[in-house]
Amino acid sequence: MADPSQLVAVILAAGRGERLGRDKALVPLPDEAAARVVSVRCREGGCDDVLFVRQRGADPLPTDLGDDVVEVDSEEMVESLRAGLAELGRPKPAAVLVLPIDYAMVGAGTIASLTAAMREAPSGSIVLPICRGRPGHPVGLCGDAVEEVSHGESGTLRDVIRRDPSRVVPVAVEDGWVLRDIDTPGDLRAAQGALANAVPATVLMARHRSRRSYRSDPVETAQIEWLVDSARFASTSSFIQAYSVIAVRDVERKAAAARLCADQRHIHEAPVFLAICADLHKLSLACAKHGRPLHSDSLEIFVQATVDAALLGQNLQLAAESEGLGSCMIGAARNHPVELAELLCLPPHVYVVFGMTLGWPADDPEPRGRMPLAAVLHHERYRSEGLPALLDEADEAVRAWARRSNARTADSATRKPDESRGWTDRMAWLFGGESPPKGRALLLEHVRRLGFGLRAPEGSGEEPGPPPGTG
Ligand SMILES: Cc1cc2nc3c(=O)[nH]c(=O)nc-3n(C[C@H](O)[C@H](O)[C@H](O)COP(=O)(O)O)c2cc1C
Repeated sequence: MADPSQLVAVILAAGRGERLGRDKALVPLPDEAAARVVSVRCREGGCDDVLFVRQRGADPLPTDLGDDVVEVDSEEMVESLRAGLAELGRPKPAAVLVLPIDYAMVGAGTIASLTAAMREAPSGSIVLPICRGRPGHPVGLCGDAVEEVSHGESGTLRDVIRRDPSRVVPVAVEDGWVLRDIDTPGDLRAAQGALANAVPATVLMARHRSRRSYRSDPVETAQIEWLVDSARFASTSSFIQAYSVIAVRDVERKAAAARLCADQRHIHEAPVFLAICADLHKLSLACAKHGRPLHSDSLEIFVQATVDAALLGQNLQLAAESEGLGSCMIGAARNHPVELAELLCLPPHVYVVFGMTLGWPADDPEPRGRMPLAAVLHHERYRSEGLPALLDEADEAVRAWARRSNARTADSATRKPDESRGWTDRMAWLFGGESPPKGRALLLEHVRRLGFGLRAPEGSGEEPGPPPGTG
């Protein structure tokens, strides 16, 4: 099969997939076997040929694409790679893209960027995809590097790269799947969820529903990290980045957090509770580093930090939904902010703006919809004239939602919304009346104890709050 002008993909698929519990090459992504998906993407991405390395006796791969297969007795990646390169014969092809089947989600566009770089790179180069500063897979071997790696003495691919980093040709890519392997059932759920939700961002936004019931399946650390890593690119006031996220998975700590958040059942049930924090602690360290005290007492900086955290939180929820996860924001995290801060060991100048459950949803709630767009979007100036009629519409829409929701959950014990109440009734009941709502009456005092002075502007005559750390 050797052709010195060709670029060949060698797919390492000889592992038994023990952690996944099944043959990785044959898992459906979402409907076709991973091996077929990879093969198609490699060809679309500019590979002339595809060779699979398989465990001897493994189940056959889909045959319609005419890929070559070499069988090995070892599960070792380095052995598989050598066997694959040996199978290519002599002369070796111009370049080889080495793709472990664990990285089956890497897109054809990413592969195209890599193969384009491989065709340009000098002989001996090693082409590496770099996503958000981190090297990933697949790896491109160019010219002499193919021969070199074929030899037993060269060690693993990592050894080869470490020996001479100057030969690495980095290719910046945005495709996070170069970093995320499919190794566990949780990784596979993430991959399948991402494929099932690959829709435009606007469609994803309109699909949103808060989810309040979860399967017991865990969410992998790598997925949490990827989601938060993505969410943190939200805009941030003055570039403060005044946020932190605490991911709580320990069952006891999560139960303790749930108890502080009105003991909501879905917090207990979700495998992950995320505390979305407004965080001026890092800002205080920055100021201290330069010998300047942090002015953390103004209402403005409190709002800045709170908005920053909320933007990250919304990004995070959307990112989670883009991979098929469900979540529900938890404002009840402000019921006992000081105790929650203690539970999560928050330093001064940090408070939980809201929590968020995260997990694989087990419910299918009726979408709530929103009030008419005309009540939200005004052109050039605010127009209140039409609002009463629009709120009537909103009332009827909420009553209709309650009817649909109750019909949908008729057979379950889920709490049923009152079909007679519209949006305005609900809001009047929650927020109207003689006295202000009782909930979170001490919030101001609590956030002051956590280091946010919330002082009125100079000259307003209002007393400043106590210094941080006194609560
Ligand atoms: C900041 C914030 C806090 C929330 N807190 C809670 C909460 O404590 N418990 C809960 O079940 N839902 C909570 N929600 C979810 C809202 O009830 C939900 O978003 C709203 O009813 C609209 O429904 P939808 O998200 O399904 O469209 C919260 C939402 C936000 C934005």
